[in-house]
Amino acid sequence: MALSAAKCPSSSAARLSLGHPSLRSSTLLRPFPNSSALARRVPSRSFKNWNLNVVCKQEAGAVPASSSAEEAPSKNVENGGLFGLSSEEYGNAIGLDASERESTVSITVVGASGDLAKKKIFPALFALYYEDCLPKHFTIFGYARSKMTDAELRTMVSKTLTCRIDKRENCSEKMEQFLNRCFYHSGQYDSEQNFAELDKKLKEHEGGRLPNRLFYLSIPPNIFIDVVKSASQSSSSKDGWTRVIVEKPFGRDSQSSAALTRGLKQYLEEDQIFRIDHYLGKELVENLSILRFSNLVFEPLWSRQYIRNVQLIFSEDFGTEGRGGYFDNYGIIRDIMQNHLLQILALFAMETPVSMDAEDIRNEKVKVLRSMKPLQLEDVVIGQYKSHTKGGVTYPGYTDDKTVPKGSLTPTFAAAALFIDNARWDGVPFLMKAGKALHTRRTEIRVQFRHVPGNLYKRSFGTDLDRATNELVIRVQPNEAIYLKINNKIPGLGMRLDRSNLNLLYASRYSKEIPDAYERLLLDAIEGERRLFIRSDELDAAWELFTPLLRELEEKKIAPELYPYGSRGPVGAHYLAANYNVRWGDLSASETT
Ligand code: BG6
Repeated sequence: MALSAAKCPSSSAARLSLGHPSLRSSTLLRPFPNSSALARRVPSRSFKNWNLNVVCKQEAGAVPASSSAEEAPSKNVENGGLFGLSSEEYGNAIGLDASERESTVSITVVGASGDLAKKKIFPALFALYYEDCLPKHFTIFGYARSKMTDAELRTMVSKTLTCRIDKRENCSEKMEQFLNRCFYHSGQYDSEQNFAELDKKLKEHEGGRLPNRLFYLSIPPNIFIDVVKSASQSSSSKDGWTRVIVEKPFGRDSQSSAALTRGLKQYLEEDQIFRIDHYLGKELVENLSILRFSNLVFEPLWSRQYIRNVQLIFSEDFGTEGRGGYFDNYGIIRDIMQNHLLQILALFAMETPVSMDAEDIRNEKVKVLRSMKPLQLEDVVIGQYKSHTKGGVTYPGYTDDKTVPKGSLTPTFAAAALFIDNARWDGVPFLMKAGKALHTRRTEIRVQFRHVPGNLYKRSFGTDLDRATNELVIRVQPNEAIYLKINNKIPGLGMRLDRSNLNLLYASRYSKEIPDAYERLLLDAIEGERRLFIRSDELDAAWELFTPLLRELEEKKIAPELYPYGSRGPVGAHYLAANYNVRWGDLSASETT
């Protein structure tokens, strides 16, 4: 039973057939385990038992009649003798077939008053609701420590909801309907009792339907385990699924990340943990596989034989404003490179997966990560922005931020050359560059191809053959686009060549607005589609690559090269690229904006 409405255009359920194994394992009932195994497992009240499909006698009894305005299954549940049956068997026993047993999804946003929840999670949920992508029966709960009424939560949430969707019809009506399904529960993050109160409220809203529960942990990682522990003891679903979305940072290094994973796995199975890297939810990142694997023209070129280097570039034109406290503990390498850029690299470089199933894709990604050469200090440049005055306006330096310790050496910029030690990519530099307070905001993947051997037209390019090489640019944001730089004859009787773009600019080609990454990822989590979430072995491999470098930078107290706010970053990044005969594509004359 797919959860999302059939109308939902972007639903994974619509994208994938019902036979999709990951959907099957997560949204359909699992086979009933043998009864002795069941007897051993039932007493434990943890998230880990979500997949037992068992309606426990005492728990079924605790399900109240529907108190919501929506209609609930009207048949009264007679529990005697039904202990230990799967939901399906239970439903049959009381005369409901599977199609009659409606399911419901309760989404609890833990840390509901935080920035991420306000700016991203609630708006993404609303957009999904607007597009008919949420299941028919759903409830959203905000959970946080501050005292708030349902009405206050709704007022808070309503301030960040926008009718950004292209149709915009009935938006305010839809907004009101959506807000009416949002509730609030105030509680401590480590209180089983408070989560038990939440459970009670959730049950009232679930009204006897098959309950599925999604917890979004929009909280600092040091309280992840407390929340998961309390919620697992007191508010996991007893006969539906329970899933938990966690946001980065997943630790600061291999050790702390492993400790976090161990902590989470005390209460959750790996397939209940949805580690979000929101870059994987971006349209053009998702499109990478389609570009590669469904176009004959690209895949044969996708190797060391034709590709000279690959560049993964992230730049922001603002500093850490307001986030200095968080940022100083992490720095740009942990904030952007170890996750967002590395995930893109893995998708870019992986071998063809056996299928588009989550495990097949993640198996290929992890192979790439584990094939990477250890990062050397000499292959890394770090920088930090300093104050700069331009047009009469003074922009603050990183350490001018009051929440940043004086003399901090935390990098706000980094560039690195990475290598994948396998047959496909041996010797090809993958250059990463990430920085804050630069001259522009942009994320892109640039693929520079090799020179044409014996180029007949080389005289037209002079001695600089780099000018004549093809370059494929996948611009993730803003102004999403894919373009290929080619050489072309300028029309006319002469023989003059020109560099032109074969250009797919999304805004000109597609009238549809591009959904926010969080919309796609939330929908996937609801549908149990794990393809765009990070598996624990991927996370381990990513930390294994960066931890020794981070340790060395910190132990040796390497000072970052200062660059002015709003500039193109430290000059060291150019030398690093030059060591590998590479020029940053985003800084070429034709690209600067
Ligand atoms: C987050 C980082 O993961 O991504 C932020 O912590 C960064 O520092 C943000 O600003 C960028 O995301 P986006 O989607 O705005 O490019």
